[in-house]
Amino acid sequence: MTVLPSTMTAIEIARVGGPEVLTPARRPMPQPQAGEILIKVAAAGVNRPDILQRTGGYAPPPGASDIPGLEVAGTVAALGTGVSGWKLGDAVCALVAGGGYAEYCAAPAPQCLRVPKGLDLIQAAGLPETFFTVWTNVFDRGRLKAGESFLVHGGSSGIGTTAIQLAHAFGARVFTTAGSAEKCAACRALGADLAIDYRTEDFVAAIGGATEGRGVDVILDMVGGEYVKRNLKILAVEGRLVQIAFLQGSTVELNLAQLMVKRQTLTGSTLRPRSVAEKGAIADSLKEKVWPLLDSGRIKPLVHATFPLADAAGAHRLMETSAHIGKIVLKVNDA
Ligand SMILES: NC(=O)c1ccc[n+]([C@@H]2O[C@H](COP(=O)([O-])OP(=O)(O)OC[C@H]3O[C@@H](n4cnc5c(N)ncnc54)[C@H](OP(=O)(O)O)[C@@H]3O)[C@@H](O)[C@H]2O)c1
Repeated sequence: MTVLPSTMTAIEIARVGGPEVLTPARRPMPQPQAGEILIKVAAAGVNRPDILQRTGGYAPPPGASDIPGLEVAGTVAALGTGVSGWKLGDAVCALVAGGGYAEYCAAPAPQCLRVPKGLDLIQAAGLPETFFTVWTNVFDRGRLKAGESFLVHGGSSGIGTTAIQLAHAFGARVFTTAGSAEKCAACRALGADLAIDYRTEDFVAAIGGATEGRGVDVILDMVGGEYVKRNLKILAVEGRLVQIAFLQGSTVELNLAQLMVKRQTLTGSTLRPRSVAEKGAIADSLKEKVWPLLDSGRIKPLVHATFPLADAAGAHRLMETSAHIGKIVLKVNDA
């Protein structure tokens, strides 16, 4: 039996601030509680919410680790009581509420998924946060169906690259916005039918033209601010606008008359504070409906760059430039 060390290296947020506050430190080894799996982390995904946490805008929910990191992949190192279906050494990826930027991380078993066929642990580490978020917001909340049309803003982001591939795979007509011609080309390669460079073109006019004025059925938006009005303008009758972030601000003025006349739905959600049972239900849908598409290679996580765990600051610097297309991943143990 392998004896686990009593301490591990993890990245702490030393104080609120720039990327330089991400500091390697020694921390006690996490102990898997009942129903949890201890993962020897091979790789950890970096997400925009980690930057918000570092800058003081997204505190961990009660009971979650203060170490940043919302997703990991690695091997099972220990099992808490009551966990079945997993054995030591199994390859696993998991959604966590914190603690991912570390050599070991404990995850609730319902939030753990097997690594899809043909993917390495670096690719697998980039799956959970965006796949859980896109599934619950686009397909559960937004009720996107085959034959409908879909718009995702920030198409080259981790979330965007996942949303384009999933919506395309499930038979929707996909529109997206991104900030350069190169990013738009990458979005088209992932399955977007129309990618609009929002710096040079008005997405309301472009989508209005492409849909003969009908608009789109579902919008996944992370921009907020003045985009909300424009989104409602281009949202079809009975359309659903799902808000998952507000890079341009959370306070807006709306004309509710249009919303009523077009019978539109405005909704949104955050993933991190939801219960293990709710996240487990999302994991069950992913296992059934999405993991076969990953196994067959029909959809694939797009990893833009990797950084060693000790250089988490470099990973955040890159994300803050927004130059990336897809995911940024930290390499931890032997990845
Ligand atoms: N609610 C939830 O449960 C949840 C969960 C996960 C993530 N999120 C949110 O989802 C967003 C994406 O996360 P991520 O990890 O995928 O981050 P990311 O890769 O850094 O993506 C951020 C994206 O926003 C784009 N962007 C900024 N302003 C834009 C604009 N005006 N129009 C179009 N695109 C714009 C950037 O592209 P350009 O440089 O091309 O503008 C970039 O691709 C973040 O805001 C994050 O907080 C929410």
